[in-house]
This record gives sequence, C-alpha cells and structure tokens, in this order.
Amino acid sequence: MMLAVHLLSFYFSKLQEDHVKKVDRYLHAMRLSDEQLLDISTRFRTQMEKGLSVESNATASVRMLPTHVRSTPDGSEKGEFLALDLGGSKFKVLLVKVSEDGRGKVDMESQSYPLPEDVLGGRGTDLFDHVAESLKDFMQRNKLDLSTHERRSLGFTFSFPCRQTKVDEGVLLSWSKNFKARGVLGTDVVESLRQAVDRVGDLKVNVLALVNDTVGTMMTCGFDERNCEVGVIVGTGTNACYMEEMRHIDLVEGDEGRMCINTEWGAFGDDGMLDDFITESDREIDAASGHPGKQTFEKMVSGMYLGELVRIVMLKMARRGLLFGGRVSDALCTKGKLQTAHVALMEMYKEGLQNTWNILMELGLQPSEDDCVAAQHVCTIVSFRSANLCAAALAAILTRIRENKRLKSLRTTVGMDGTVYRTHPQYAKRLHKVVRRLVPECHVRFVLSESGSSKGAAMVTAVAGRLHSQRLQ
Ligand code: GLC
Repeated sequence: MMLAVHLLSFYFSKLQEDHVKKVDRYLHAMRLSDEQLLDISTRFRTQMEKGLSVESNATASVRMLPTHVRSTPDGSEKGEFLALDLGGSKFKVLLVKVSEDGRGKVDMESQSYPLPEDVLGGRGTDLFDHVAESLKDFMQRNKLDLSTHERRSLGFTFSFPCRQTKVDEGVLLSWSKNFKARGVLGTDVVESLRQAVDRVGDLKVNVLALVNDTVGTMMTCGFDERNCEVGVIVGTGTNACYMEEMRHIDLVEGDEGRMCINTEWGAFGDDGMLDDFITESDREIDAASGHPGKQTFEKMVSGMYLGELVRIVMLKMARRGLLFGGRVSDALCTKGKLQTAHVALMEMYKEGLQNTWNILMELGLQPSEDDCVAAQHVCTIVSFRSANLCAAALAAILTRIRENKRLKSLRTTVGMDGTVYRTHPQYAKRLHKVVRRLVPECHVRFVLSESGSSKGAAMVTAVAGRLHSQRLQ
C-alpha cells in the first residue's frame, strides 16, 4: 500500500514536472542566466556613464538626475514637517515629527487621499488643486491650521523624473505609471504646488524640498544606518538613487564631496539597449500602456505590469493549447483582470496552489491541478525575471560605488521600499541572493524602509529649511 502511494505521488510529481518544463520551454526568453544578467549589468553601467557625462546626457535614456541632496542624515535634523507623497500606490499627506532628543525618534501621522482617474488624466492645475485641497483637509483635521503664525515646512515627495537645479525646484521631464495630467511637462512642479496652495488659501506652508521616492527611502534608512548610500523602489514603478562623487557629475559645478543621483533606471532600454531580452509579451504590454516606447525596464520589473504580464502569457499559452485545455475566458482576455497582488498570492509557500485555483476560477476558468501548477510557474518566472533584472542594475550601481571608493570589496547598505518588494512573499530573498551572486565583492545589507520615504523627505526638508533661513538672515 505504502509503495503504491509512493508510486502514485511519484507519478503525479512527474506529471507536474512535465507541466513546469512546458512553461520553462515556453518562457525560456524570460529565464535569464547569470551570464546574461552580468551582460545587462554592464550595459546599465555604460548607460549610467552616458547619463552623467555632459556630452551625452541630453540623449541618455537613463537620465542620472542630480538631486542636490549632498549628504545622508547626520542626526541634526529635528522638528515638525509636513510631507506630501505623490506618485506611489497611494497619495498621502503626512506630519513627520523628528524629536529633539537624539537620533531615531520619529512620529508620523498620515492620511491617504483618493486620486480619481479624471484627476490623473485631467489638467495639471486640477491635479495640484486636488493635492493642495487634501493638504488643507489634513491640516484642518489635525488642527495644524490653527496654532502658530509661522509657516510649516513641507517636503514634496514626487515620484517622477525631474530636472533639478536646486532642492526646491524640479522641472517634470516625463510622466510614468498611470499619471498623464496635461500641461505639467516641462514646468516646475514646486512652483505649481505653491500656486495651488495659494489658490486654496489659508495654508501656512513653505514648500522647501522636492524629493524623489528613492531619495526619501535612502534618507529614511540613512537615518538609522549611517552606511546607507543607495535607495531602491520596486513598487508601482521602479527606480534607484545612490551617492555619486561630485567630480563625476558634469552637470553640477564643484568637485568636492558627493551628491545623490536619481538614476531613473525605469527608462533603461528606451534606446533599444534591452531589445535582445524583450519578449512578445513585453511588446504587448508596451503597446497597450499609457506611455508606449517609454519606461522599458520598468515595464519588465514593476508592480504596475507584473500581473498583466502573467495574464498575457497565460492567454497566449491557452491559445496554443498549453493551458486550460486550450480554453480561454472573457476575463483572461481583459486587460487589468490579473494584478500583481494576485501573482503574490499565487506564489505563497503553502496556500499558493489553493490561491491559484481560486484566482483562476474567479477569472472564469476551470483549471485542473496541472493548470494550477503551470500557472504558478508562470508567476514564478515573471516575478523572478523582475528580481533578476533589478539585481543586475543594482549590481552595476554597487560596482560603481566600489570603484569610486577604489575598494576591492565594499560594505554598504541599500534602503529598499515599494509594494512588490514589501509584499511579494519571495521577491526580497531572491533579489538579495542574486545580487550576492552577481557581485560577491559587495557585502550588502538590505534595509526595508519601515516608514516609507516620508521620514527621509522630512530629513531633506530639514536641511533645506536650515539653508533657507540662513539665506533669509
Ligand atoms: C517611476 C518614476 C520614478 C520613481 C519610480 C518609483 O519610475 O519615474 O521617479 O522613483 O517610478 O516610484
């Protein structure tokens, strides 16, 4: 009897293995070897150099934007700051209190506000009015509008590529993710926010700093970890920043010290550099996206697209008779029906298979157990490719920092955030492992930013506030 059970389970696992192999064969182009990843890493290195150099910056797809943030936190940042966080999975208004008594003590109040579709795709002035009105609501609720006569310092986390010539100015270079408000491109978003604040009226705030979410993350983690010199987001979008030597930043005067560079790595590949790794499914995602031809790397990596990639792959496989007995459903044919959160559920250790069955049933399919195993494997390949690509680009940044410091081996900390990194059950582990394999000479501590990027935005605002009052004196 025991033997029969054993043989039976062997038989089933053999069958399941066949389904896994079938998916492996179909998705071979998404399964990247270490050799390919190192190749991608080298390509990214070249793109970073192109973005930093004054001759090639204008045409570089990886923009390498100077942020005018010159140092990581040193513990002297104190006070109460307002923060706005626009461009992530949620729009939030926050109050960040950094206490006077030493490092590490930060209290935060925060409130999420909805961002309706018509605001995302409407006029820029309406978007900023909505932001300012939410800020007013937050201040009223928290009775921040009553107290002192002083204006409150505000840091604006705005998670899009901006050309900055100082910390409180930023010209929007392009929209990404699902934002496309009109009349904002090429204009200073800090100025637009200030004007909206004036229009809404009765808001005593001073917008002192514009901060990308990667920079906020690096600074948040840098508050507790002196060594933190890189910030990475794998969320709705993906991006990284790091501390670069001033002598290598052609676009900013001065050679002393370091400055944080917002790489905008999401646009890696927009010039064709990743064409030999792009699959038909990636092309479909791009064609159906709000910004075709833009954010190539982001579309292969970030949370806004992973669910959709899995849906497209499953649909293609079904149409070829490789899944669901060749049957498809209306939901499987509909954009947006499968989200990255579903991918995370399907890849959970224990409940994964059951979750997969539930999700496929919800999509109107009648999956067999083998279909579920195969669908799970599609998720694994798609999300693993994302972690692999992220690791390859991060490896390039780490190598650059190591070489800048002329070190044989580097010890450093990377601040991490984003919904994919936070919530996918295996993403973080996979990413860490691949980075260690690709750059064994870099010893990296990955730190999850416990409180998002707003604590870091407050740090930048604190420094900006100090400079601001020095200028006024
Ligand atoms: C997009 C934005 C970038 C941001 C990232 C993560 O790639 O262009 O600025 O950091 O999303 O939110």
